[in-house]
Amino acid sequence: LPALPLDLRERPLRDLRLSVIEACNFRCPYCMPADRVPDDYGFDAASRLSFDEIETLVRGFVRVGVRKLRLTGGEPLLRKHLPDLVRRLAAIDGLDDIALTTNGSLLAAQARALREAGLGRITVSLDALDPQRFREMSGGRGEVADVLAGIEAAQAAGFESIKLNCVVERGINEDQVLPLVERFRGTGHIVRFIEYMDVGTCNGWVRERVVPSRELRDRIAARWPLRPLEAQYRGEVASRYAFADGRGEIGFVSSVSEPFCGDCHRARVSADGRLYTCLFAAAGHDLRPALAQGEAALGERVSEVWSRRGDRYSELRGRASAPRKHVEMYLIGG
Ligand code: GTP
Ligand code: 5AD
Ligand code: SF4
Ligand code: SF4
Repeated sequence: LPALPLDLRERPLRDLRLSVIEACNFRCPYCMPADRVPDDYGFDAASRLSFDEIETLVRGFVRVGVRKLRLTGGEPLLRKHLPDLVRRLAAIDGLDDIALTTNGSLLAAQARALREAGLGRITVSLDALDPQRFREMSGGRGEVADVLAGIEAAQAAGFESIKLNCVVERGINEDQVLPLVERFRGTGHIVRFIEYMDVGTCNGWVRERVVPSRELRDRIAARWPLRPLEAQYRGEVASRYAFADGRGEIGFVSSVSEPFCGDCHRARVSADGRLYTCLFAAAGHDLRPALAQGEAALGERVSEVWSRRGDRYSELRGRASAPRKHVEMYLIGG
């Protein structure tokens, strides 16, 4: 077997985040603001990889070291027959973990089929509990009741400790933080607060809108004392804290205030088969030509790109040397 690739910073490739669709039924202002990504945007279903291609692609990635797969979008539940894809991917030897990140709005109807197909874990984005605030955070497209029903259905279908991602923007949904913690403490689900990031080119990011995790952690701990937990594996994205009273845990993803590029083992592939070596990469590498030659060729192509990878955008943010052009978040699913 060929040696597994390390990048220029000696980081192995472990996780693949694979987008199955670039379209979304929400227009979260921090990701796909409706004035920049209108309904008639012209997403191109024909350019998406087929399920056959996706299976070959994932097999190729497993050959070069990937053990963890996360399906993303856009909104992945908009992709037709997604459980059929999950079933095929779950059968791949060497893949230890298959997860999905979804906005949850369509989850109630699909949770059981996804579970039966072999999906291991689900993460749901949930930026507010208040219905009106939730509408704002989804660009006027989402109803929080649908998402809460999706979370319940997922639990009933057998998904345990569902992760709930909340992107926090200063002055926008900060007031939702304590209610979210209160609501899910003791349920077994894990709320995670994500620092607002300068992903893509259209969200008008300004640093003043970022609420540093430290600040949120102090605010939460003042009400419910917290104790830090050890990372579960090297390079874990969220830092974890347990409630001192034993009622579960919460997490923080702090890529602005505390970058974690040193342990970044993640590759991202867009729905049209481009490989991005960083969430903030300017451009992707087209994998289709290699894919057409099969999983071995795909693995070699990925190794070649990975071994030239030097990305560490979050560590460079704000410096003159930091790249300015970034791929849109909805093309690579975060
Ligand atoms: P698990 O650890 O497998 O549970 O998943 P995760 O936390 O990596 O996945 P999730 O999709 O829930 O991502 C949580 C947040 O972290 C999202 O906002 C992602 O965009 C962000 N994120 C994930 N990986 C990276 C990364 O490599 N760099 C940066 N800057 N952000 C990341
Ligand atoms: N900053 C931080 N997180 C973001 N996400 C989307 N856009 C941003 C942003 N600008 C999150 C979504 C989802 C995850 C995959 O990425 O809310 O939970
Ligand atoms: Fe859609 Fe997720 Fe982007 Fe919101 S963050 S617009 S739900 S892809
Ligand atoms: Fe990895 Fe890029 Fe995120 Fe750094 S900024 S952790 S290199 S994806």
